[in-house]
Amino acid sequence: MVSSQYILQTENLSRLFGGQVAVNAVSLGVRAGEFKSIIGPNGAGKTTLFNLISGMLPPSSGRIIFEGQDITRRPAYYRSRLGIGRSFQMTTIFPNLTVLENVRLAVQSREPHAFNFWQPASRFGGDEETAFAILDMVMLGGRELQTAQTLSHGDKRKLEIGILLATNPRLLLLDEPTAGMSRDDVPGIIEVVQRIKRAGGRTVMLVEHKMDMVMSVSDSVMVMHYGELIADGSPQEIAQNETVQSAYLGGYTERAG
Ligand SMILES: Nc1ncnc2c1ncn2[C@@H]1O[C@H](COP(=O)(O)OP(=O)(O)O)[C@@H](O)[C@H]1O
Ligand SMILES: [Mg+2]
Repeated sequence: MVSSQYILQTENLSRLFGGQVAVNAVSLGVRAGEFKSIIGPNGAGKTTLFNLISGMLPPSSGRIIFEGQDITRRPAYYRSRLGIGRSFQMTTIFPNLTVLENVRLAVQSREPHAFNFWQPASRFGGDEETAFAILDMVMLGGRELQTAQTLSHGDKRKLEIGILLATNPRLLLLDEPTAGMSRDDVPGIIEVVQRIKRAGGRTVMLVEHKMDMVMSVSDSVMVMHYGELIADGSPQEIAQNETVQSAYLGGYTERAG
């Protein structure tokens, strides 16, 4: 059933690889402004679900509705134009440009500009202000004039997130932003995600294994297991759910305080 309270809905969404079901009849709804996380063991189908939502992969069956529109058969570029922003495959850092130029270009790529070629020059200043604000949010303030390729691994990840934010997606999909980061880089990435949450006004789907972060930033948490959605609720509900405990959390309990 299509419901307007959701910005994104999937209905019985499935994806098979050969005979194997990676995503199994997943029906979910994401509300505008909601911060929704997806947890589950490796191989549970989280990335495949994101690939289906962003259009990187066609589903085997089921439907995807975005802002009331059936986008199930729409190509990835179309979904990206509608405002589905996906890390990180769709994000390209220009290595020879500065950090600021990378983000400013992404700001300028926002839809309205395409129809507004003869905008006044002052508009450029506005874009730069927006870029500075985004760089502040992703904790790259002070690095604006550094060439992107000279950034550390962790700062490159922050820049990727900044570029994605700069395109101002209606729905932001973050697939394991801390994956592949060194232990020293992880806290910074977690802080960036928390700042995105604190700034508010964004609809985010986050896949992460860092449970402290998931439990602190999420309005709701979905649990996937062998391709199926086995639970969906508030962080507290999920932390106390026994099925989830045995399937995945392995005794995770919220820390006191
Ligand atoms: N392109 C693909 N071709 C074949 N099998 C795939 C492909 N992508 C994912 N899978 C399989 O689908 C299942 C779900 O994978 P994935 O969505 O990456 O899980 P997660 O992101 O939760 O770790 C796994 O068994 C994986 O091997
Ligand atoms: Mg994955």
